[in-house]
Amino acid sequence: MSEIDLKPEGTLSLQTIAMPADTNWSGDVFGGWIVSQMDLAGAIHAERFSKGRCATIAINQMAFLVPVKVGDVISCYTKILKVGNTSIQMQIEVWDSHDDSRLAKRVTAGVFTFVAVDREGNKRQIPEELKHM
Ligand SMILES: CC(C)(COP(=O)(O)OP(=O)(O)OC[C@H]1O[C@@H](n2cnc3c(N)ncnc32)[C@H](O)[C@@H]1OP(=O)(O)O)[C@@H](O)C(=O)NCCC(=O)NCCS
Repeated sequence: MSEIDLKPEGTLSLQTIAMPADTNWSGDVFGGWIVSQMDLAGAIHAERFSKGRCATIAINQMAFLVPVKVGDVISCYTKILKVGNTSIQMQIEVWDSHDDSRLAKRVTAGVFTFVAVDREGNKRQIPEELKHM
């Protein structure tokens, strides 16, 4: 399948605009800023799903496909791949859409794992009934 045929997969969990302060010396947006937006989007989805706090335990399989420019709107789509006893594995895609005049482009995708934690930061069990929703 070509990039043009691809469509975002999952839930739109976060949308924001790249600002001048998010750029590097060449005017492109920092990869680290994009990863942090993905982390926020994944945490929003994981916390809604598990009904409580979550912490990021692992980030895997990241690749940056196209640069993001200042003023671009980025959209983070999240999809739960696997729910364990305490962990949630999530696919997170980032799409860039400046405006409706051109097609949205997939900027990056990665697999993040979050662990459900309690107020003290200790891992907690994900309720059994949530796993089968
Ligand atoms: C989250 C934390 C409480 C988990 O405690 P822990 O004793 O290390 O947890 P475990 O090794 O038992 O792993 C917990 C779950 O994560 C999974 N996991 C652990 N390491 C993993 C990795 N590298 N990749 C994917 N999953 C992983 C385990 O398989 C387990 O899943 P399950 O319960 O669904 O089977 C602890 O690791 C921690 O505080 N880490 C720091 C989190 C943090 O500060 N993140 C960044 C800021 S949000």
